[in-house]
Amino acid sequence: MTDAELRDELVTLLLAGHETTATSVAWAVERLVRHPDKLRRLVEEIGAGRDGERPEAYMNAVVNETLRVRPVVPIVVRTLTDELRVGRYTLPAGTRVTPSIYLTNRNPRVYEHPEQFLPERFLERNPETFAWIPFGGGIRRCIGAAFAQLEMKLMLRTVLEELQPSIPRASIWRRREWTRRRAITLVPGSGARVVWRRRVPSG
Ligand code: HEM
Repeated sequence: MTDAELRDELVTLLLAGHETTATSVAWAVERLVRHPDKLRRLVEEIGAGRDGERPEAYMNAVVNETLRVRPVVPIVVRTLTDELRVGRYTLPAGTRVTPSIYLTNRNPRVYEHPEQFLPERFLERNPETFAWIPFGGGIRRCIGAAFAQLEMKLMLRTVLEELQPSIPRASIWRRREWTRRRAITLVPGSGARVVWRRRVPSG
């Protein structure tokens, strides 16, 4: 590789890989802290270890649901190589189309209460290829998708094993945080700030 190619690879990893995953973990913490029953259930599962029949079932559901309801990348972009019919529209080759990740993940024909954070919906069924697209789709789907989900689970497990998050007392965002756009990602409006306290070991 040339120096320029090497630099491009490193910057891609930083922007496509680090920023996106870190923001998704921030959203997971933001959602969990505002849904204490879900947080409790996740912490209980972490405490029970990974020997069960379906290890990390709830953790997987939390990660899938966070990526559904708070996708950090809202759209993907494609240029049509062939004509495409979408409903009553005919789009000629060369048209630039932007499928919406945000809207697809909230399709009310697929998801009941699509705007709500309900990890339980992914306990019974896995995310569907065309209805859950936080990582895009097709041949250019995110190359780091599996790695990102592994990282998210590892980070959440590591911190929640020892620390308990709560909403800061003075927070003006007690109910939920607004979504803010930072460059091309959607991030928690006030930085997903939480207070972390060391959990008192049980027993
Ligand atoms: C939660 C974390 C992540 C999210 C939400 C995310 C999301 C996305 C999305 C939406 C795309 C565009 C896909 C498309 O056009 O269909 C993409 C592409 C890409 N992602 Fe990720 N990503 C994440 C983590 C990562 C990680 C950890 C890496 C690398 C270690 C990575 C590397 C890439 C690369 C290289 C591309 C371009 C792929 C191509 O054009 O062929 N991403 N990502």
